[in-house]
Amino acid sequence: MNNYKNNRMFHFDEISKMAPAEEGDRQRYFIEQVRTIWKQKFEDLAASGEAKERYGEAVFARLMEEGRCGTFHIATFGCQMNARDSEKLAGILDQIGLLEVDSENADFVLYNTCTVRDNANQKVYGRLGYLHTLKRKRPDMIIALCGCMMQEPTVIEKIKKSYSFVDLIFGTHNIFKLAELLERKLTAGKGIVIDIWEGTEQIVEDLPVDRKYPFKSGVNIMFGCNNFCSYCIVPYVRGRERSRKPEDIIDEIKRLVADGVVEVMLLGQNVNSYGKNLETPITFAQLLRQINEIEGLERIRFMTSHPKDLSEELIAAMRDCKKVCSHLHLPLQSGSSRILKEMNRRYTKEDYLALVERIRAAVPDISLTTDIIVGFPGETEEDFEETMDMVRKVRYDSAFTFIYSKRTGTPAAAMEDQVPEDVVKVRFDKLLKEVQAISAEVCGRDVQTVQKVLVESLDDHKDGYVTGRMENNTTVHFPGDASLIGKIVNVYLEESKGFYYMGRPV
Ligand code: SAH
Ligand code: SF4
Ligand code: F3S
Repeated sequence: MNNYKNNRMFHFDEISKMAPAEEGDRQRYFIEQVRTIWKQKFEDLAASGEAKERYGEAVFARLMEEGRCGTFHIATFGCQMNARDSEKLAGILDQIGLLEVDSENADFVLYNTCTVRDNANQKVYGRLGYLHTLKRKRPDMIIALCGCMMQEPTVIEKIKKSYSFVDLIFGTHNIFKLAELLERKLTAGKGIVIDIWEGTEQIVEDLPVDRKYPFKSGVNIMFGCNNFCSYCIVPYVRGRERSRKPEDIIDEIKRLVADGVVEVMLLGQNVNSYGKNLETPITFAQLLRQINEIEGLERIRFMTSHPKDLSEELIAAMRDCKKVCSHLHLPLQSGSSRILKEMNRRYTKEDYLALVERIRAAVPDISLTTDIIVGFPGETEEDFEETMDMVRKVRYDSAFTFIYSKRTGTPAAAMEDQVPEDVVKVRFDKLLKEVQAISAEVCGRDVQTVQKVLVESLDDHKDGYVTGRMENNTTVHFPGDASLIGKIVNVYLEESKGFYYMGRPV
């Protein structure tokens, strides 16, 4: 893909030459620079008497009380990788002195985009239209776009042409540079600042993070993907696989635990190939065993596991490590070995079934969830029936089902025999119905037992109740108050409601 590095509309200014060379220090330097500029803007606005009207009484009061200098809003599309990236971006904006608000009516609005399926892209274009109307009323608003969609040159062309009110664009490899890019935008004046990297070897540690939940957190263990499943755009937009060093991961988790976190979700596109390319190679199973030893940590989750790389060593680690939750997300994609081959998944239906058997033998109460694509090019009625057969055989706790979406530049996009939309729709509905029926049966299996539940929030629907998750990720509602949030409580599951339970604490 093109490299937009040479396509910058603005060059580094004098300030950027003065910035420190080490990346962490450099970005902290830019955070201070931007904070000074933004503070001045805010003071001017306050002096003109317009600030209260702009922010509304309540937000203005908070800005003054907390000594902040403006507002920001981040909308996140896509997967947990993006959600974690947004927490890092929010951390930088927080240090600049901006206050996070729920609405897009803010001084700085950032869309962290996803491009895995076309509907993810369409959502962003739709929302951009709305942002334009907001910006007309608030001309100094800064609109920024980042994330996977921005790694596609055709997207950048389209935004430059049809959405020229956008101020700043960056990609997936340089989110740590947000403050530096903002500085460039704020000092450059009119025009769009674009900085997209084709790939990177760099992993920048120790930048600020603003977590969404105090008690649980995602933790990146690796970035990128080398698998090139033939339908998938992720390897093109997230680059090659890079693992973080185990000591950096462990240090981060220890710091999180010291800060109140009890559950971590280890994140990677294929965690089973973690550590292979490190200077001192280590397996994912070894990493899990080390994390399991961290005192004060209660639960370990991870996602995603590619079936082709799921080792016996990992199954043993899942069996032995008490903190590893009895839940495995194991994307199937298709039940037809022929289609799996076309998808470049590198396992067969039989391999997958045998794997499920081995996992269930080692961890009998494990919950299995999956992803399935319907309508991959060339999928016949027989292929589809193989997928239905797998769903009946494995009996997933839940399954995310997707209609195949053609992604430009992937091998599958050029395949003949794209399946007609109406045929796909019929198959999709049939699969969804089967998945849901099985899920309703399977999810109720723990009724009338006592389970550990991590309380996540007050119940949205019922006063005096809280909502939490079991180890296998099923939701439970039971009587309680805000003091329980972030705690693990023993709950008797009184009644199964299909996809969730009602219980009482014991
Ligand atoms: N790395 C993960 C998946 C990341 S994308 C893995 O390999 O399992 C999440 C899911 O989106 C995939 O599992 C797949 O089911 C779905 N997906 C990816 N590309 C798609 C496409 N072109 N059309 C429809 N679904 C797709
Ligand atoms: Fe996409 Fe396959 Fe990589 Fe998952 S493993 S991100 S589906 S290419
Ligand atoms: Fe989407 Fe990028 Fe995740 S394409 S699914 S946000 S890795």
